[in-house]
Amino acid sequence: MAIRFSSTLEAIKGSDLGPLLALTAKPEVISFAGGLPAPQTFPLKELTECAVKVREQDGAGAMQYGPSMGFMQLRQDIADRMNRMYGPMGMDKVEPKNIIITTGSQQGLDILGRVFLDKDDVVLIESPSYLGAINAFELNQPKFVEVPTDGEGMIPEELEKILETTERVKFIYVIPNYQNPTGICWSLERRQALMALAAKYEIPVVEDNPYGDLRFEGEEINPLISMDPKHLVIYSGTFSKTLAPGMRLAWLVANDKIMAKLDLVKGATDLSTPGTTQRECAMYMENYDFEGHIKENCALYAKRRDAMCEAIKKYFPENVKCTYPHGGLFLWVELPEGIDARKMLMACIENNVAYVPGDSFFPASKKKNYFRLNFSYNDESVIEEGIKRLGEALKNYKD
Ligand SMILES: Cc1ncc(COP(=O)(O)O)c(C=O)c1O
Repeated sequence: MAIRFSSTLEAIKGSDLGPLLALTAKPEVISFAGGLPAPQTFPLKELTECAVKVREQDGAGAMQYGPSMGFMQLRQDIADRMNRMYGPMGMDKVEPKNIIITTGSQQGLDILGRVFLDKDDVVLIESPSYLGAINAFELNQPKFVEVPTDGEGMIPEELEKILETTERVKFIYVIPNYQNPTGICWSLERRQALMALAAKYEIPVVEDNPYGDLRFEGEEINPLISMDPKHLVIYSGTFSKTLAPGMRLAWLVANDKIMAKLDLVKGATDLSTPGTTQRECAMYMENYDFEGHIKENCALYAKRRDAMCEAIKKYFPENVKCTYPHGGLFLWVELPEGIDARKMLMACIENNVAYVPGDSFFPASKKKNYFRLNFSYNDESVIEEGIKRLGEALKNYKD
């Protein structure tokens, strides 16, 4: 009997990056492809203490099934932190009832896709946008419309043209802080313009903010959720980049009506996120210096960003441009038009260095002359050597 998959899965091509990136796993390859935080930033000693204390103080609670919305104390701690940070910027007070804990923000994106999207609905995204979100939403077979985006964010006039002329737009998905893949941070004016348009057309906005805490310099710019009188923003936060991605702990903030739907799908998906890690995280937030820890991470990542940018200046040909991110984990490289970064990756792997080719981040336009570099994982000397190899490959490459 032939194996038959669902029509959705038959229709989806899926990312073909897997086999390509598998080649980068060889030990001799310096990989800037993954989005991995530096392992030395994981507060292992503190998290171990929390794990022991949770089992001693509330072991049975931690091991029992828990509410699909998440462990109340963690939701309270997240609400308190967001209110402390964004309340003074104008955000309406967030209550724990408007926070749901998810197993990583990737699960939050999957849930959002299932809550909002039918086949052929439209999702507006930055051009380029986060591949993981595209993959998660894709399971519902929407159409992606890339909104023209520059170094300050989506261009409001272009967004308005699209909103005026496009039917079935279900939501706008954006990463305003140190975006994945480009590293750009939206200006205040662009954020205000986006929110004015969202309010005018009454379109929900998914504000994915995994990198906002990883700010190396400059003032914090108001999040979209602080400019949202109509409560159209669904805010996504995660502990993956501030504590450890292996915790698989994240959260969504949404209005009551949307939250009821998120909770329904979350319960159907996995009943709840593990009660153990939720309690450990709450214990960590309440008893350790989370803000100090984040500052230390930022200092380490800023040094690595600097090492990468300096090496790029030294080793890359002049016709190659790249962003200078003030936070996050990535920078974005633009090759001269006509060069296919995916094809070039084979030449780079032969020179023992790797990146993620950019075309997958453009689901509609499939632009080929870009790639993403991660600067958080490798130390400064490895970064210098890897960029040197990449520079050699760039100079010698013939398409
Ligand atoms: C923009 C963005 N959103 C969501 C995620 C998923 O993160 P997690 O599921 O670990 O919270 C990532 C991970 O790299 C990301 O870059």
